Amino acid sequence: MSKTNDGNNSVDISANETDGSAGRHRMSYRDVAMHKVMLQDLVRTEAYEKAINAVVKPEHSVLDFGCGSGVLSMFAARAKAGKVIAVDRSPFIKNAQEIALVNGFENIDFYHDDHESLQLDEKVDVIVSEWMGHCLFYEAMLEPLLTVRDRYLAKGGTMIPAQLSLHVGLVVDEDVLEDLCFLQELPYGLDFSPIAHVPFQQSDLVALSPDSLLDSVADLGELDMLTITKTETPRVFTAKLIPSEKTDIFALCGWFSAQLSPGVQFGTGPNDIPTHWDQILFPLPQPFSVDPARELTITLSPQTEQVGKEQFWCWSISDSENSLTVNEQQLQQQAIVDVAQGKL
Ligand SMILES: C[S@@+](CC[C@H](N)C(=O)[O-])C[C@H]1O[C@@H](n2cnc3c(N)ncnc32)[C@H](O)[C@@H]1O
Repeated sequence: MSKTNDGNNSVDISANETDGSAGRHRMSYRDVAMHKVMLQDLVRTEAYEKAINAVVKPEHSVLDFGCGSGVLSMFAARAKAGKVIAVDRSPFIKNAQEIALVNGFENIDFYHDDHESLQLDEKVDVIVSEWMGHCLFYEAMLEPLLTVRDRYLAKGGTMIPAQLSLHVGLVVDEDVLEDLCFLQELPYGLDFSPIAHVPFQQSDLVALSPDSLLDSVADLGELDMLTITKTETPRVFTAKLIPSEKTDIFALCGWFSAQLSPGVQFGTGPNDIPTHWDQILFPLPQPFSVDPARELTITLSPQTEQVGKEQFWCWSISDSENSLTVNEQQLQQQAIVDVAQGKL
């Protein structure tokens, strides 16, 4: 809708004034703070630079979907891409354009657009996008990216990242359990029992150490960014897993790993160098006994991926003897019904 590389090099932010969402984390893309966090994530940003340098050739046109500060567009320009198109729906794109100019990159075309309003009259050789949210699905950017891919990636073109994988570990750390139990332990001599069960029903952002988990990790599935379709993107990820020990587990822990281009990858799990993504903790309502003699089935399902809506998850673990499932959206809706019916 609004190509911004006009004669004055000024970005039109009169349209697409918002990030398209009232959600708090989306609004934050208007703030330098969020972009600083991402730029300070060296694991992430240096891997993208490496992949762009490996993939982009001088004859290539590159589309940076969700350009943010413009860092990936500038990497592409520095890799001598023939053309760079930077797209973002946030008004922050005005800053991205200024940053590109002070760095001497005058050949990046900035579009203040989202996946629906974007109008290009050409296809591109490479689409680069840093679209991944916590545990991959948090930011609802996958479907918009696939829309852009289907419209603008030339036949034989390349996606960066190329492939994403989802992983789940089994949490045995007593400190995690202690933290979940906090409200049950009469803090300050007060009884919080009406809400003390809630932490066991809600996913949470955590940064766990490697020894918080059993060695056995479930690989829940892969997304091949060239071939997945909007309708075939899995909504339920399932894996079988033999636990490495007989013990009790208190939660599941989810994260993703990314292969940006052949040989360029990073992970975001407890065993990887820390990134700003950390991990998501999926607590279990009660400790679950695992045993190498009993194969586990684990499922993880992102429930809501609509822009501006809260991301809910459903998770479950079962073996031949036991089964636990948490559907946090259902539990939250039930809490709202309870309030409406005057139960509180
Ligand atoms: C995770 S940030 C990445 C920013 C930058 N590429 C980087 O690597 O630092 C994602 C960016 O995508 C933008 N974005 C999210 N959904 C979008 C959409 N549907 N259309 C255009 N931009 C979008 C956000 O405003 C945000 O700037």
